[in-house]
Amino acid sequence: MSSETILILGGSGKTGRRVVGRLTAKGKQVRLASRSTVPAFDWTDPSGWTAVLEGVDAAYVSYQPDLSVPGAVEAIGTLCRLAAEKGVKHLVLLSGRGEDEALAAEETLKHSGVAYTIIRASWFFQNFSETFFLEGIQSGELVLPVGNVKEPFIDADDIADIAVAALTEPGHAGKTYEVTGPRLLTFGDAVAEIARQTGRDIRFTTVDIGDYVAMLEQEQIPADYIWLIRYLFTSVLDGRNETTTDGVAQALGRPPRDFADYVRETAATGVWEDLK
Ligand SMILES: NC(=O)c1ccc[n+]([C@@H]2O[C@H](COP(=O)([O-])OP(=O)(O)OC[C@H]3O[C@@H](n4cnc5c(N)ncnc54)[C@H](OP(=O)(O)O)[C@@H]3O)[C@@H](O)[C@H]2O)c1
Repeated sequence: MSSETILILGGSGKTGRRVVGRLTAKGKQVRLASRSTVPAFDWTDPSGWTAVLEGVDAAYVSYQPDLSVPGAVEAIGTLCRLAAEKGVKHLVLLSGRGEDEALAAEETLKHSGVAYTIIRASWFFQNFSETFFLEGIQSGELVLPVGNVKEPFIDADDIADIAVAALTEPGHAGKTYEVTGPRLLTFGDAVAEIARQTGRDIRFTTVDIGDYVAMLEQEQIPADYIWLIRYLFTSVLDGRNETTTDGVAQALGRPPRDFADYVRETAATGVWEDLK
C-alpha cells in the first residue's frame, strides 16, 4: 500500500465512489469524507475541514450540491487555503460545464498555489440510474422541464478514470479537461434508448418550467434546491452545451464511453425494472 493519503470529498457519491474503488484497487491509501464520515466534512460548515485535511497529500473535490449555488466559490476558496496550509500537493476539482459560477470556482483553485487538475463535465449518464431521473424511469414516465435541447451526456466512469489518472500519474497538473460523451442526445433520445434496451414502455414528457417548479413547491422541496433546478434547466440547458469535446481523449488517450453501452450494462443490473 502506498504511503500517500488521497482524500475523496463526496466519496460515496456517483463519481466519488468510483474514484475510491479505482484508487483502492491500485493499493492507494484513501480517506473518504462527507457528512456521514468520522471526522465529518460538511460543505456548509468549515469548522471540521482542517481535521479532514490532516496528513492528506492529494484530494478529489466534488462540491455539493453544485458549484453554481451561492457560497460555492467562497467555500472552494476556503478549502484551497486550508489545503495549502496543510501541505496538500494536488487538488482535482469536478466542475460543471456551462456555469459561470463554476468558472469562478475554477479560477479560485487555479490561483490557490496548490497544483490542480479541473474536470469540467457535462451531465452524467448515471443521473438516469443512480439519482435524479431514476424514479421517473422506473415509473414509466420521466417528466422534466426540458425540450429538444441536446446534451453530450458523459459516463461517471470516464470522470473517475480521469480523476484517478490525475491523482496518481504525472502530466495532469495545470490541466483543465472539458469532458463530454461522444454524442449529443436529447433527454427524449436518452429515455428512448433506455426503453428500447429494457423493452419497457417509458415515456419522456416535457413540462413548462413554471409548472414544474409549482409541482416541486407542492412537494415542499426546499427553495434553494428549486432555485438550482430552475437554473440548471433554464440557463445551463439553453443550448450553450450542445457540442462535444475531446477532453476524455486528451486526458486518457481513448474515446469516451457511449450512452448505448452504459444503457446495456445498466439494464442488465435490473435497476430500471418496473416497480409497479
Ligand atoms: N450530475 C451531473 O450530471 C453533474 C454534471 C457535472 C458536474 N456535476 C457536479 O458533480 C458534483 C457532485 O458529484 P457526484 O455526482 O459525484 O456526487 P453525488 O452523487 O451528488 O454524491 C453526493 C456525495 O456528496 C456527499 N454530500 C452531500 N451533501 C454534502 C455536504 N453538504 N457536505 C459534504 N458532503 C456532502 C454525500 O455524502 P453524505 O450524504 O454522507 O454527506 C455523497 O458522498 C456536483 O458539484 C455537481 O455540480 C454533476
